[in-house]
Parts: sequence; C-alpha cells; structure tokens
Amino acid sequence: MLKLNVKPALLLLEDSKISAVKGELKKCIKKFHGSPPGFVRILYDDRVVREIEEYSEKLKKYENFVVVGIGGSALGNQALQNALRPMDWNFLTSKDREGYCRVFVIDNVDPDLVRTTLKMVEPEKTIFNIISKSGGTAEALANYLIVRGVLEDAGLDPRDHLVFTTDPKKGFLRELANREGIDAFEIPPDVGGRFSVLTSVGLLSAKAAGIDIRALLEGARSMVDNSKLEEVNENLPALLALVHYLHLEQGRNIAVMMAYSNRLLTLVDWFRQLWAESLGKRKDGQCGVGQTPVKALGSVDQHSQLQLYNDGPDDKIITMLRIREFHDDVEIPLIHDDESVRYLGGKKLSGLLNTEFVGTALSLVESNRPVVILDFEKLDEEHVGRFFLLYEIATVFMGELLGVNPFDQPGVERSKVITKALMGMKGLEKEKAKILARLKELEMEA
Ligand code: PA5
Repeated sequence: MLKLNVKPALLLLEDSKISAVKGELKKCIKKFHGSPPGFVRILYDDRVVREIEEYSEKLKKYENFVVVGIGGSALGNQALQNALRPMDWNFLTSKDREGYCRVFVIDNVDPDLVRTTLKMVEPEKTIFNIISKSGGTAEALANYLIVRGVLEDAGLDPRDHLVFTTDPKKGFLRELANREGIDAFEIPPDVGGRFSVLTSVGLLSAKAAGIDIRALLEGARSMVDNSKLEEVNENLPALLALVHYLHLEQGRNIAVMMAYSNRLLTLVDWFRQLWAESLGKRKDGQCGVGQTPVKALGSVDQHSQLQLYNDGPDDKIITMLRIREFHDDVEIPLIHDDESVRYLGGKKLSGLLNTEFVGTALSLVESNRPVVILDFEKLDEEHVGRFFLLYEIATVFMGELLGVNPFDQPGVERSKVITKALMGMKGLEKEKAKILARLKELEMEA
C-alpha cells in the first residue's frame, strides 16, 4: 500500500484553519465524483487495454520501442520505465528482457539527444511511437520528420515502423495516419496531456517493456476508491491538497519532492509538470497563484540542498518519498576494523539510505519545516498506479481550493507561437516582424 503521513506538516497548522479547509474539501470530493474527469473515466474503459494487448503481439518482432513526444506525451513514459524496469534494462540481452523491447524516449529537440538515441537503435528492429495529443507540437513533429527521414533512407516502409498516439479526429498526425494507413492509438479529448499517462500515451510503451498494465490500472482505481471517502483524514488526495494548500497560504510557495530512490526520480519529473502546469495560473486574469515544484534526490541532495531547506527561507513544504522494500538489495561488506567504517559493515545499503531519510525528515521537523512522507511498501505497478492517481486527484482538489482551472495551460501558448513565427510558419509573417523588432529593443539575438 502507498502510505501517506502528513502529521509533521499538520502540526505546524492551526486547528481552525484545518477544519475550515476540510469543510471545503468535502465539497470538492462530492463535486469531483459527481462528474469525474476524463482521466478517471478512462481507467474503467477496458477497450484501451484490450487494444494495447492485441497490438503488443505485433511488438514482439521489434528490439526497440522509441517514444517521440514532449511534456505530457513523454514524462509519464519515462517515469514508468525508470520506476518499473531495472536501471540497466536497455543494456540487457533480449533473453534477459524476455523478448520485451528496449525503450527510449526522445523528448527534447537537442541534436545530441536525437543523434545519440538514433545511433543506439537499428531502424529495421525499431518501432517509433510518435505521441502528440494536438498533433501539432513543433518538437514532436520535428523529431518525427527526422525519424521518418531515417526510415526512408533505410528503404523501410514507414507503416512497419511508426505508430501514432494522438487525437481521435483532429491534427496533423491523425490526418497522416488516415491518409497513409499508419497504426494510430487515441488520446481521449477529455484527458489533458499531463493527466494522460494511464491512457495509450503511457500504456503502450509500458506494455512494450513488459510492464503489467492491468496491475497499474488496478492500483490507479484503488486510489480512485480511496478518494471517494468523505472523511478527509482517510482520503489521501484530499489530505495532500489540505497540507499543500494551507502551507501555501502561509507563504510556502515551493513544493519540494525529494525521492530516496533513483528509480523514483522520474516520477518526480512527472509530478513537477503536473503541479506546475496545472496550478500555476493567473487568478481572475490578475495575480498569479501556484506552488513551484522542486525536484530533489536523497541522499545526494542532503549534501547539496538540505542546508537551504533547514536554515534558508521558510518557503517550502517538503514531500519525501521512500521505498520500504527494495527488490535487489546490496550488503555492505565488513572489511576494516576501524570504527569509521565498522558500524556500516554487514548492513544493507537500503538500510543506510532509509536511515538517511529519517535523519533528513527529523532534522526538517526540528527546524519547524513542514514534511510529508509518502511510503511505497515496494516499487511495483500497483504502487506506481496509485501514485499517479494520488497526485492527479490532489491536483484537481488544489485547483478547486485555489479557484483555478487545473486543466488548461494558457501560459504555454505564447512561446509556441513565437517559436513557430521565428521558424517561418506560414501566416505568422506579421507576428514575426513584431517579434524581431521587440528582440532588437531588448538586444536579444534570435
Ligand atoms: O499537459 C499538457 O497539455 C502539455 O504539457 C502537453 O503534454 C505538451 O505540450 C505536449 O503536447 P502534445 O501532446 O499536444 O504534443
């Protein structure tokens, strides 16, 4: 089970404020389940899983599965691979992978990333999953064109090496799929990019790597059940929203998530997008609200960030993620007789990591800093599924409390228009001239 402890964060809050927000949250729970959003509805649609399972038969002939997409069309895939596959997955032999695919993600339009990834995969043995809900994101489409060029140069039929995941009706990728007969999965229109990890967006690459997608969805649904509980103390997403909202009200406008596991670190990247893009909004067109998510790794950041968290500005709420039971632990050998190392010998490495965790948590509590603890009993599909829904639902509750729409992202649009204009997109010539004039004023080079 995923265990949430908000006690250290609650202790720093006034009872009257907690009660008032609990009252609000009870209304949020009712409203949410009165008309559940698409990301909940889709968990009960068995068609998605059946389609992916059917398609996965076709995947058996490939060695590599490459995701091409960005933001919500990539972060969930990365989180699933890192959390649920061994860290050396892409270096294992096909036999050790039980025939499942190596999985790579190309999100950025960084020439080094793209070139290096494409060098690692033989096009003949590779399927490229181009993911874009809108079907119009410059990064996804530029990388698609590069991939397509590689396939054509190798004399391969693109239909054998491409699969799209996009809107069911609209956008360039959907039109192309229809025109050329390329396989294409649907992203439901009522599920936003950053909430789409448990649609075909994340499930296809997960299945390609042999992740148990049914268990993932089972875990997610169990968190939906939990989020129906009217008693806020029992309702994990509501509890998370409660402490984050009240600490934000007290000026703690940074939400640190510190994972005590390298394999959990990409889940933190996924959370960062969800929290930032959903809650960072202008309220009533005026002042901005939101809480800046910050990623940290334990124990590494004890030697980098912890000094600031303990003694710097009191502007953070810190969530610490811990795995109680590691799959493959490492024993620290007992070698020297010197006390500097003897106390470590014979212990498990996870024992040291989780003791460091306690050290950090207690030091923060002693500094009167709000701490939330989230325990994964173990790192498996069900826990990860619960984690996704815990934060997706908490985000919606936070949106309600803050009075903002968590499902839009108007602040992202402007930079997209500027990029397209500067890259020479037809119809944006006037915009381009204005942008160039502004850049000149600012002495900024295009
Ligand atoms: O959450 C969102 O909506 C965004 O971050 C998108 O996922 C991101 O911009 C990519 O968009 P698309 O999937 O349309 O290419």
